[in-house]
Amino acid sequence: MCGIVAIASPRTNIVESLLDALTALEYRGYDSAGLALLSPRGLVRHRAVGKVKNLRDTLPALEAAPIGMAHTRWAVMGAATEANAHPQFDGETAVVHNGIIENVGELKSMLPDIIWESQTDTEVVVHLVSSFVRKERDLLAAIKSTVQLLKGTFALVILHKDFPDMLVATKRINPLSVGKSNTGDLFVTSDIAVIPVEQYIDLEDDDVCVMRKRVGEGDFFAEFYTFRHNKLEKIEKTWKDANQTATVTSIGDYKNFTIKEIHEQPNVIQKSINALNRGDYIPIAQEMMNKSAINIIACGSSFYAGLIGKYWLERFGRLLTNVEISSEFNYRYPVITKNSLTLFISQSGETLDTLKAMEVVRAEQGDFAVITNVLQSTMAKAATRHLLDLGAGPELSVVSTKAFTAQLAVLIGVVIQYLKFKDPRAADILQEDFERVPGLLSQVMGQNYHLPLIPNASSILYLGRGICYPIALEGALKLKETTYIHAEGYPGGEMKHGPIALIDARAVSVILAPHNELFNKIVSNAHEVIARGGHVVFFTDAAGNAEFTQRANSTAYVMPSSGPVSEAFVYSLGMQALAYDAAGGLGCDPDRPRNLAKSVTVE
Ligand code: M6R
Repeated sequence: MCGIVAIASPRTNIVESLLDALTALEYRGYDSAGLALLSPRGLVRHRAVGKVKNLRDTLPALEAAPIGMAHTRWAVMGAATEANAHPQFDGETAVVHNGIIENVGELKSMLPDIIWESQTDTEVVVHLVSSFVRKERDLLAAIKSTVQLLKGTFALVILHKDFPDMLVATKRINPLSVGKSNTGDLFVTSDIAVIPVEQYIDLEDDDVCVMRKRVGEGDFFAEFYTFRHNKLEKIEKTWKDANQTATVTSIGDYKNFTIKEIHEQPNVIQKSINALNRGDYIPIAQEMMNKSAINIIACGSSFYAGLIGKYWLERFGRLLTNVEISSEFNYRYPVITKNSLTLFISQSGETLDTLKAMEVVRAEQGDFAVITNVLQSTMAKAATRHLLDLGAGPELSVVSTKAFTAQLAVLIGVVIQYLKFKDPRAADILQEDFERVPGLLSQVMGQNYHLPLIPNASSILYLGRGICYPIALEGALKLKETTYIHAEGYPGGEMKHGPIALIDARAVSVILAPHNELFNKIVSNAHEVIARGGHVVFFTDAAGNAEFTQRANSTAYVMPSSGPVSEAFVYSLGMQALAYDAAGGLGCDPDRPRNLAKSVTVE
């Protein structure tokens, strides 16, 4: 949530690089954007409401500096206005901030003479630093004094007008990394995966990075300190090689990141198939052999992937599985049984609700594994047991597509590996079906899917049974996110217990109906909708299409025939394609839906 990037460079002007990097970070939030530069004119700031493009358009052409920082915001405290955009700046100190300062009221009362210009919590950090600099004449000491007063979470980058060759960054909970490119540019960023650096260092909580200009030279160097134990101690950190490629942040010939990432799915799934064949899931599967239950905890699409995992773990593995939304798990005093293993699933590895759930499990001495797409993330580092890589590559569309199916692929890979110990013949059958998935997905992509949008439709129901129920939930979420149309996923069998009251001539129901053992039951639901004048969008396969002869008021999409593993992937992709098409028809931006951000680092 919110993107931070700062650059200190031997070049005389980093403004373009800063704006390019900020554009790459825009998926983290895009309500407003701003930058501050330590330019020959002093410390200057520019901000604009909306996307980075608006900032770029408003920037004076002659603005130039070798050092500066930028921020793209997802509003938490205070509306998406220019006054609330970052950097917050009082004429002396400029600050960009991710996270939430929880004791802002208490801190503001320590500064009674300030006239507050924004509704943000960040502004209080600015004034605290300025007031400590006036007393201590030392920027680092002033930041230490400020940070000691802060309660909450933060990733901060700070510039001060009296320290024209110096940039300071520090963090607590929210991620912050330092990077360097082979051209000598130094970076600080909230999201190192999308910044083109050769080497990087992840800051730990209370670490401080100070970038200064080398005396007599034009370049900057980074040194590291810690504020831990209320001291200011110099520390050594080790640079790690980064594997970023420039193509990661480019959409190439695609129209947007969403469709690019949808098309990457066959390759992404193949990586998990390879991981299974390499034996990567053996350690976790061995541990599961000694457990009597699995708990899966996640949010959003990751939660729906977890639900699909439950269907597989219980149906194929006969292993009791509980799946829970992190934010509910955290505050309902859950019971973690001793003999269970908890899996946290998160694309970003930074979702605060899920990080809090880790604290709950840790407090109960529970073992946990992490499935994530970001191996440098806070969750990845916290895993007490196994760390499973989604291997989807950076997902830059806010709407999750390839990371979701990668979660399914890792989950089924683990289930198959577990079955290899318990029932090798059953494992072989499932694996054969799993290995068909990349080819089947390529076939699904060869078709067009269109959602008939009935004028004045109040909502769209997504109905599925068995594994198609959590896929229906995910399909409805995809439609909400990309089109802002209300949609609801429901188990087909549950429709008659209430939602059927919604069905009339304006109702559209998307029905997921692979020709499996539940086909006849979900077809009954389709008939129930049609009998009440509703329109059905029927996703099935050739065998299902031959049996579902109801043509009035229905549109059928024929998916490739799939098995008990592959159907989850095939129908998930169908749901993604349907939402993507609907978004395009309505002129919505699927990469950057309104009000959303890629990684949700607030509760
Ligand atoms: O990074 P995480 O997987 O923890 O994120 C969880 C949700 O915020 C995320 O899946 C969200 O629902 C997406 N926007 C779905 O498209």
